[in-house]
Parts: sequence; C-alpha cells; structure tokens
Amino acid sequence: MSKFKIDHLFSRAANSMKKSAIREILKLTQRPEMISFAGGLPAPETFPVEDLKKIVIEVLENDGAAALQYGSTEGDTKLRQILVDRHNVAGLKLTVDNLIITTGSQQALDLIGKILIDPGDYVICGLPSYLGGLNAFSVYGAKLQGIPFDEKGMNPKELEKAIVGIKDLGRIVKFIYIIPDFQNPAGITAPESRRLEILAIAEKYNLLIVEDSPYREIRFNGTPQKLIYDLDKSGRVITLFTFSKILAPGFRLAWAIGDPALLDKIVMAKQSADLCTPVFVQKIAARYIEKGLLEKNLVKTIALYKERCAYMIDCLHRFMPAGVKWTEPDGGLFLFVTLPEHLDSLKILEKAIQNNVAFVTGSVFFCNDAGKNTLRLNFSFSNKTQIEEGISRLGAVIREHL
Ligand SMILES: Cc1ncc(COP(=O)(O)O)c(C=O)c1O
Repeated sequence: MSKFKIDHLFSRAANSMKKSAIREILKLTQRPEMISFAGGLPAPETFPVEDLKKIVIEVLENDGAAALQYGSTEGDTKLRQILVDRHNVAGLKLTVDNLIITTGSQQALDLIGKILIDPGDYVICGLPSYLGGLNAFSVYGAKLQGIPFDEKGMNPKELEKAIVGIKDLGRIVKFIYIIPDFQNPAGITAPESRRLEILAIAEKYNLLIVEDSPYREIRFNGTPQKLIYDLDKSGRVITLFTFSKILAPGFRLAWAIGDPALLDKIVMAKQSADLCTPVFVQKIAARYIEKGLLEKNLVKTIALYKERCAYMIDCLHRFMPAGVKWTEPDGGLFLFVTLPEHLDSLKILEKAIQNNVAFVTGSVFFCNDAGKNTLRLNFSFSNKTQIEEGISRLGAVIREHL
C-alpha cells in the first residue's frame, strides 16, 4: 500500500467518474468457459491477418520512414483522400477539408464533448443510447436528456417537447447525439422520414447533430437510408465512422466528416490529446482500401453477421419463454431484448454468469435509469454452436425468474 493518498487531488471531472458495477461483473466474462454476448466485439474470423501481414511489409519497405514518423493531426492526407473518394462515390460531395482522422470514434466523441460542452449544458440522446458516448459527454459536465424510442428510433414529438422544456429552464441544448443505423444498443434503424423530422427540429432550434455511424456498412437486410449528413443542407451535422467494425478495432482508427470550422476546433483539441493518430496504421489502412480488400472483406463480414443474427433470432424463438420480445435488426452487431416488466435483468445477469453466459443489462444505456427489464445481446462474436448453447442457457435462467 502506498503512503501517498491521492484522493483529495482528483479533479471534479475525475470524481464524477464512477466504476461501473456492470463492468466489474463483466470481468468474469473473460473466463474461457463463458459464452459472452456482452461486448461489442467483431468476429475474429473477419480480421484479415494474412492480407495485413503482406501490407505491413509493403508499407515498411516502400514508406517506412514516413510510416514511423509523427504525422499531421488531421490525419494522413492519402487516407483522407481515399475516404473522401469513397464517400463521394456513395453520393456525398466532400473535399479533404471535410474529413479528419481520429484515434477511434471514441476519441471523436470525447473531443466533441471537450469543445462543445460547458458544465450544465444539455445533450440530447436516445433512450437507450451508447454508453461510451454518454460517458464521454458526462465527463465534461453535460446533462443528458433522454428521448424515448419507438420502432423508428428517437420520437420527434418527445424530442421537441424536451428541447422546449430545457429552453424554458433557461438552459442550453448543445447537440443531439444519434446513432441512426442499427443503433447500439437497440438495433433500430431510423427511416429517411424520421431522419428528416429530427433534422427539421435541429434546424428549428438551431442545434448541431452528432451522427455516430460505426455500423452503417454492416447492413445485411433492407436498403441503406441516407446519412443525416447527406440530408442536411446547412452544415449542422458531424458524422463519425470507424474501422473498428469493418477492419479491426485494434487499429484504433476512425474518421469524422463535417463542416471545416467544427473539424478545425476538434483538430486543436486533438493536438493536446495525442498529437496525431498512429501514422503506421493509417498507411496500412490506406493501402488495404487501395487494393480493394476492404470491400471484399466486408462482403464476407456481412454474410457472417447475417447468418449469426438470423441464428440468434431463431434460437430466441426456440428458447425464450412467452412474454420476452426482441428487435430484429437489419445490420450491425446487436439486438435488444425486452423482458416482462417485473423482471430485473441485473438479477438475471448474476444468475446467467453462474451458468457461463453473459450479456449487458439494458439499464446502463438509459440515462434516466429506466430499462431495468431490458438487455443487449451481441451476435457477431460467438459462433453458431455458442449462440445456440448460450441462448438456451439464458432462456432457462429467464424462465426460472418468471
Ligand atoms: C455507437 C458507437 N460509437 C462509438 C464506438 C467506439 O468505436 P471505436 O472503436 O471507433 O472507438 C462504438 C463502439 O462500439 C459504438 O458502438
């Protein structure tokens, strides 16, 4: 034990950070015998190890000195241009000034919090919403206002009512945080009509929209819906993308598109966060895309996740007792389960862990502490044998609690 006591030195922000009870429980999920539907982990089978081995050597041989040097904070110009071209093929009209590289989308969320939130400012989010985003904003003193979901995502009437309510209190709303494609955790996709409604409200009240889109490219059913960024005419949307779910989360590589004035400020904040995102991984990713390997690998990843998602839904039908409901996503990594009202998913998790199956309780994604009877299941990481066994065990645990 150290003699030096640190507690009195922590900042207010540090003191506001809480150890998550759920994270402690989930540490148990590292046991090899555990079937985990908890994390948001991509399937390791989708990591293109052999292709990357060759590219790593190529990058070191052809561009080694630059790859191992510091780079610009905005990101490697070549990778930025490749990503811009890729978006423009899909119908956007970007220049390199509309795109920056970040060290994971998580860094983008943190930097957005840093440059926009003064303590007491409001951020609007979904009920439920990605916990990592909520935590990133809370650290800067944001008050989170959750908006109830219907089957299309954030309910626009509730959204407007909440904004008016906050304004009536004399407080400021800074932005709407939204994950329109295969939402984490709910697995819901907002149709274009809903995106337009939310955009119209943002325009009416002059708000920024932070569109977080890590799962967009993992669509296995239905037709792609336009990005809110694409529907917007006024430059009030910043959209975040990442290589984590389409290449490898270990790269910690992501990008954001938006108005240059906003991106400039993020770049200033990024300078003091990490100076730059590792140039080595940026060069590897650029070469990987240039060789057409990203698109090729994506086809395989999507097919695998489609199969796993369908199989998990099939197992839910087979093993869940009556009264349990779930979302059926068209893409992404998660589906969301709603238990009968009187059940508490935290109690079920404790029992499930004893039976070597894990998930994340839904309530952690609700900034208003609701959702006690919900839980999130990841379908990308486990194979079909594990999915069948895990859902069967989970069904039995839930049945016991009924
Ligand atoms: C909605 C959402 N945003 C951001 C992130 C963070 O992604 P990254 O690995 O790029 O930091 C995740 C990770 O699961 C996520 O689900």
